[in-house]
Amino acid sequence: MVCLGNICRSPLAHGVMEKLILENNLDWTVDSCGTNGYHDGESPDPRAIRVASNQGVDISHQISRRVTIDDFIQYDIILIMDQMNYATLTKMAPPYQKEKIQFLTEFAFPGKNLPVPDPYYDNKFEEAFDLIEKSCLAFVQKFGK
Ligand code: 4NP
Repeated sequence: MVCLGNICRSPLAHGVMEKLILENNLDWTVDSCGTNGYHDGESPDPRAIRVASNQGVDISHQISRRVTIDDFIQYDIILIMDQMNYATLTKMAPPYQKEKIQFLTEFAFPGKNLPVPDPYYDNKFEEAFDLIEKSCLAFVQKFGK
């Protein structure tokens, strides 16, 4: 799960997917990171921690980190939140790894390239959580056993 700062959207997506993996006994690994590294080593935004906690998702232990080239090798799919994340990652992707990059919302809203709007400035964390949850559920319905 990748966003810009790895303190709002991708930690929520990481936490929601982690919970779905546990609930569905899936043999998957999920992690999250950001493209800009400005918040390296920090916990998620307190507003993200709160909105997740209200829905039974604990993201308080997560630590922000920047995406690495190794992530493209290590993971089968890289789910991004918006067009800017897409542009950054497609530029840094090693050969033959670009196809791994998909919008998180692709599986709930196919073909729309629908962004998860950044709640960092406008405070719309509940809206972000709902869209992220819907998207993760659709992903698990498609690829989970
Ligand atoms: P995120 O939100 O990409 O969903 O983690 C942001 C958090 C911080 C900043 C930008 C976006 N920032 O520039 O500090």
